[in-house]
This record gives sequence, structure tokens and C-alpha cells, in this order.
Amino acid sequence: PIDQNYINDEQNYPVTGEHKGHKVRAEGIQRMDADGKPYPTKFGIHGSIVGVDWEACIADGACMDVCPVSLFEWELNPGQSGTGNDKPISKDDKELWDKYRTDKCDPVRESECIFCMACESVCPTLAIKVNPE
Ligand code: SF4
Ligand code: F3S
Ligand code: ZN
Repeated sequence: PIDQNYINDEQNYPVTGEHKGHKVRAEGIQRMDADGKPYPTKFGIHGSIVGVDWEACIADGACMDVCPVSLFEWELNPGQSGTGNDKPISKDDKELWDKYRTDKCDPVRESECIFCMACESVCPTLAIKVNPE
């Protein structure tokens, strides 16, 4: 799941880049998971008003189905793009491979959010945190 406080936690989630008009936080940075174990974040969290944790997104797509203003778009299989912070993943590490090889939903028009919160509650991995202004 996404860290509910990511937007206020500049230490663990510094802004590391921009992507399609929104900020990306903690891309390529190692942080701790809920059990205190190191958790390498390859993709980070996309968006400030509507944040999607690309580590948690498994391409379920329910968020896109429920969003009344259709602000999400697919980013196709970023784990395979071979760009930026991307490092090759060995298929031998099946757990990591399964986690990273999916498409990710991207909040490309986050400024159009009307804060209905439907996406947050429908995502099976709780990958989304909406931050009303
Ligand atoms: Fe779309 Fe509602 Fe989620 Fe905003 S809170 S991204 S309007 S589903
Ligand atoms: Fe991903 Fe959850 Fe949407 S898994 S595609 S953020 S419903
Ligand atoms: Zn993005």
C-alpha cells in the first residue's frame, strides 16, 4: 500500500523528478517497509494531488473504471523501458519480476480531480492516496 503520509514526509519521499506534468517522489530511493525491512523503490510515487505508488500498483485498472473525470492513463510496463533509474531485473528473481513487469496507472490530469475518493477505496492494493487541497 501507499504510505498515507507520503506528501508530508520529505525525508522518506523527496521529490526526485517530474513525469508528464506531475511530481515523482522517492524514485530509485531505498525506504523501509511496514516491517522495518529495506524496501527499494524503483519507481516511486507519481502525483501530488492524486498519488499512485508504482511499487504497489499491479495494473488492476479499477481506479480508471471508477474515476468520473478519467484522469488516469496507462504507463505501459515501465519496468521494461530501460531508461532513467531503471535497472535490469533478473527473471530468476520471480517475486521482483512479477512486481515490476506490470503496467502502471499514471495520474496525468491530477489537477482535474474532484475528490470523490472512489479510486482510493477500489484499488485492491491500496496504491492510491488522494490529497485534497
Ligand atoms: Fe478520480 Fe475521484 Fe480518484 Fe479524483 S478521487 S482521481 S476524481 S476517482
Ligand atoms: Fe493500479 Fe490500483 Fe489502479 S493496482 S491500476 S492503482 S486500481
Ligand atoms: Zn507519472
